[in-house]
Amino acid sequence: MDKLVIRGGNPLLGTIRISGAKNAALPAMAAALLTDETVVLENIPQVRDIETERRLLSAMGAEVELGYGRAQHRTTICAAKLSENPEASYELVKTMRASSLVLGPLVARVGFARVSVPGGCAIGARPIDLHIKGLEKLGAQIVQEHGYIEARAKKLRGAHYSFDKITVTGTEDIMMAAALAEGDTVLENCAREPEVVDLAALLVKMGAWIEGAGSSTIRIKGVEKLHGARHRIIPDRIEAATFILAGALTGGDLMLTECDPTHLTALLNKLEEVGVKVKTGEGCVRVMGDAGPLKAADITTEEYPGFPTDVQAQYMALVTQAEGTSIITENIFENRFMHAQELCRMGANIKIEGRRAVVRGRVTLSGAAVQASDLRASASLVLAALVAQDETIIDRVYHIDRGYERIEEKLRGVGAQVKRIGEILPKRVGV
Ligand code: UD1
Repeated sequence: MDKLVIRGGNPLLGTIRISGAKNAALPAMAAALLTDETVVLENIPQVRDIETERRLLSAMGAEVELGYGRAQHRTTICAAKLSENPEASYELVKTMRASSLVLGPLVARVGFARVSVPGGCAIGARPIDLHIKGLEKLGAQIVQEHGYIEARAKKLRGAHYSFDKITVTGTEDIMMAAALAEGDTVLENCAREPEVVDLAALLVKMGAWIEGAGSSTIRIKGVEKLHGARHRIIPDRIEAATFILAGALTGGDLMLTECDPTHLTALLNKLEEVGVKVKTGEGCVRVMGDAGPLKAADITTEEYPGFPTDVQAQYMALVTQAEGTSIITENIFENRFMHAQELCRMGANIKIEGRRAVVRGRVTLSGAAVQASDLRASASLVLAALVAQDETIIDRVYHIDRGYERIEEKLRGVGAQVKRIGEILPKRVGV
């Protein structure tokens, strides 16, 4: 199993190019199931979850070509021939819960889908009951047995559906299903994340009629058929946030290019409070971490446009180095503080009280052997290691490979001392 070895102490200086958003790429790839024509997606990040989705779509009969490098990470998907009984197996769903995104498109297009029920995961229970309720509202019949959900519908019908709770992939799943339903759909209490807006933009290019994506009410007029399209995936705001925090934490001066600062407002406002200097421009963010001592500041994770839960762990690493006490409240997932224990092994002073973490700074972190428990938790350990004394060895790096493209190369490029040890990375597909 791969490990990352990081020697802390270097300020990060230079430029990092931000990759395409994994969380926008995954639903966009699922959307290709809605048409028998070719969908071309650009700016697809080269991360393990994308490879998992390729396997998922291929297993259903779609042709997926991942072309990295020359062709701007272009992916071509053609779902002209889909198997009659497409299935998302337990093997795939357990490694990537976003696999449930195929449910809506499959029922809408071929009238049937069989998807393994996602179990618990490191950050808490992540049910898909709201996807199921939404599909039932559109007229699908759902049966759950042997650990699988089977959804059937001759033809979905438009409906009025209000999500009991805001869900990102749930909004995306039902929006895709409704695009091919008969009649009008109104979805309420929708997620407003930029990834939902990006998916709607792709669906509109494919011939769908969708209005209101990015607000809490989305209106969809179902169409008979969708066609092929070409679409460029938005930049990854979580990757950008992670590197912004790395620049701030190490007292560096980093320029992030090909990102969208408008998607980062909650974090950038918070950093002002912490005392980090940030400048934004067209498609770029510069973070200057040497403006003075960091000051403690509380955060509460919320749905977009609030502070993202996917940046909570990395922010926790930052405030171990801030003067004073910061309270971090996690509102989205019930068990998303696994990284706190590992940060404490490196010398952090963090107490968990239910959904709150009390972080007392500023402490000297020292390198240790630590374990990544989920994708963003591993990013938080990388950040802590960048300022820790001596060497940190991070185990279970496969978590970080799910969502960060060549993180060690990007960090090395701006002066960090990072190396990967263990097995060789999977071969790049294409050139
Ligand atoms: C997406 C993101 C993930 C991010 C999360 C919250 C993708 C691929 N992943 O995950 O990185 O951390 O949004 O911003 O885009 N819930 C239910 N029933 C459901 C669905 C969700 O109770 O049917 C609950 C979840 O347990 C959680 C909350 O709703 O407590 C939000 O989850 P959701 O927005 O659905 O997360 P994902 O879409 O899985």
